[in-house]
This record gives sequence, structure tokens and C-alpha cells, in this order.
Amino acid sequence: MASKMGTLEDLYVDMLKDLYSAEKQLVKALPKMAKSAQSPDLQKAFQEHLGQTEHHVERIERIFSNLEGTPRGKKCVGMEGLIEEGAELLKEDVDPDVLDAGLIAAAQKVEHYEIASYGTARAWAEKMGHDDAARLLQETLDEESTANEKLTQLAENHINMEAQ
Ligand SMILES: [Fe+2]
Repeated sequence: MASKMGTLEDLYVDMLKDLYSAEKQLVKALPKMAKSAQSPDLQKAFQEHLGQTEHHVERIERIFSNLEGTPRGKKCVGMEGLIEEGAELLKEDVDPDVLDAGLIAAAQKVEHYEIASYGTARAWAEKMGHDDAARLLQETLDEESTANEKLTQLAENHINMEAQ
């Protein structure tokens, strides 16, 4: 039986573990996405976000240095599903330009998942007076939002046009 979630702090720690697993899965998936992308701009965007994602992992480790326990030991099944859907696309016979549009769509689903989770985690950290953690979570949240906007720009600028 799973342990009881008695407090908001329990829920918060659980969400941080979930995010930790999500980020670690993404560190593995992003190089494959970069390799599959046809457009050099999109390859670069995935590479850059890989570097940021490695920092996101480290930020959660820093937050856990002030908490009990370890961020390890939980699997984020939400991220697993999102990555799996992106991987399914790569198994299809897709036109290269259309493939990029699909990869952007998959990456934006990932960003939105992370934005939702970090927004909630930051709000809970603030509510409980974990100011340092709230600041770190906000930094990551800002980077996820910027990454998402960048993907929207790439999609709008040329990739969707090429797919027509
Ligand atoms: Fe991230």
C-alpha cells in the first residue's frame, strides 16, 4: 500500500519527485528528438533545451537538499506517455518537413505538462514558506515557458509553411 498523503508538504514532495523523473526522462529523449529533427533551427532548439533540462534536474536536487529524503524512486508516467507518443511518430513513414511539425507538437505537449506542474509546485512552495525553492521553481518555470514560445515561433515561422 502506498504511504498516506497527510499534508500539502507530502503532496509537494511527491510532485517534485514526479518532476525529477520527468526531467530525467527528457534528458534521455531530447538527443533523439534533436537527431530526428530535419531543420537545423529545431535541432538547435532541442539541443539548447537539453542543456536547460540538465539544470532543471540539478535544481530539484538542490531543493531536496533542504527536504527529507531523495528525489529518486518515482516514475512520472505522464512524461513516459508523452515521450512514447513522440516516439510513435518516429516509427511512421513521415515526410521530413511534416516530421518536424509533429516533433514540435510533441515537444509542446511536454512543455505544457511541465509548465502546469512547475506552476503548481511553485505556488505550493510559496504557500508553505519555502522561499528558496519557490525561486528555483520559478526559474525553471520561466525557462519552460520560453522554450514553449520558441517552439511556437519555429512552428509559425517556417516549419508549418514547409509542411503545406
Ligand atoms: Fe524542464
